[in-house]
Amino acid sequence: MYEYALVWEWMAFAVRWLHVVTAIAWIGSSFYFIALDLGLRRAPDLPEGAHDEEWQGEQWRGEQWQIHGGDLYQIRRFGVAPAEMPEHLTWFRWESYATWLSGATLLAIVYWAGAELFLIDPAKADLAPWQAIALSATSLVLGWVVYDRLCKSPLGEHPATLMPLLFALLVATGWSYSQIFTGRAMMLHMGAFAATIMTANIAHIIIPSQRIIVADLRAGRKPDPKYGRTARLRATHNNYLTLPVIFLMLSNHYPLAFATEYNWLIAALVFLMGVVIRHGFNTRHARAGNPRWTWLAAVVLFALIVWLSSLAPRDHEPGATQNMRPGHSRFAEAAGFKEAVQLVQGRCSLCHGQEPAWEGMIVPPRGVILESEAEIAARARDIYLQAGRSHAMPPPFTAKFGITLSVQERKLLVNWYENALSGS
Ligand code: HEC
Repeated sequence: MYEYALVWEWMAFAVRWLHVVTAIAWIGSSFYFIALDLGLRRAPDLPEGAHDEEWQGEQWRGEQWQIHGGDLYQIRRFGVAPAEMPEHLTWFRWESYATWLSGATLLAIVYWAGAELFLIDPAKADLAPWQAIALSATSLVLGWVVYDRLCKSPLGEHPATLMPLLFALLVATGWSYSQIFTGRAMMLHMGAFAATIMTANIAHIIIPSQRIIVADLRAGRKPDPKYGRTARLRATHNNYLTLPVIFLMLSNHYPLAFATEYNWLIAALVFLMGVVIRHGFNTRHARAGNPRWTWLAAVVLFALIVWLSSLAPRDHEPGATQNMRPGHSRFAEAAGFKEAVQLVQGRCSLCHGQEPAWEGMIVPPRGVILESEAEIAARARDIYLQAGRSHAMPPPFTAKFGITLSVQERKLLVNWYENALSGS
């Protein structure tokens, strides 16, 4: 039975590995094309693009010489397409789909399977796991539907109105999540919300538009410029969402960012920060100058985030520990619980406390609190993996201060966990 915890942990690692790798491939190719587009230069012998003039104007044609791996590459952009459609065309879409699929799997592994520990905060909403999971999944789908409707409405033609409206949608969503879920889950869901929009933009708008354009060109028809316009609008949104999404995904490793009442405001500022930084890079890549104000604005926004994180009382993370649920109580009833509690309170609580006693530590590391019996029972699996099955905790340097676990004590923690699973 306990093998299950080990296999589960390794599966989570494998999926996370896949997710990070695919995300690097996706965001990397996206950054590459943005920089390429903006950095094209005119060349005397550029071939004519098929529908260049009407499509997007002269400035969109150009070429760039690049060096990579010791070879030179000459890359040319056509206004849509050359007169003769090439046989071979490389598409970029699986980087994004694979990132979303692995991300959704990881969300299910960490936040759905671990709903009681990571998703539900009974102090905010005392949901049953299935209710929390349903809210989590529905919100992501709904987000795309609302966003897509807004873009397709007449507002889609007016970016100056659309952009603030989309920003308001993000802020309202963040606030709503913060009223229901734990801080950790709130930040992660904001990342997933934006990332779902990004992938759906590719799957439902950009790739279908490209298919129509290619089919028209192959058939010798002139593609309707509206397809290029829509694809470009959605690609611009994706461009501006990239950096905030990465911040939000990483934020659940930093309790100062998520375990505060103002986490939704922090998320809102993160979106603004992402936009100004992207704007700075976009302008530079286009060789239209180096707008220093964007860096200044990003630093000011970051400072504001740091300040906000210090203001509000930290919410209880994880909330599941106040109302211990039956699913966890088997750990409190298992043989060896008393001994385990003693060990954990003696060797772990000084760092993993609501207010850590460890010199220089201001928040419990990784938001992990191990003080009450309820908290210890709720964290049984983490304790098992971090201190029983592995020697990650307590950190080795604490041995200098006499805080360590002997082999026998680790065995005690292991036995407690495995007893609970085997029902003895
Ligand atoms: C000296 C302070 C200290 C003590 C004592 C300590 N920890 Fe930790 N713990 C940390 C720090 C720091 C981290 C964050 C590690 C990181 O950044 O990956 C952490 C992280 C963790 C995590 C989260 C790991 C993750 O990656 O999410 C768990 C679970 C944990 N500790 C359990 C324990 C247990 C169980 C004990 C007692 C046997 C213990 N810790 C003792 C400092 C401590």
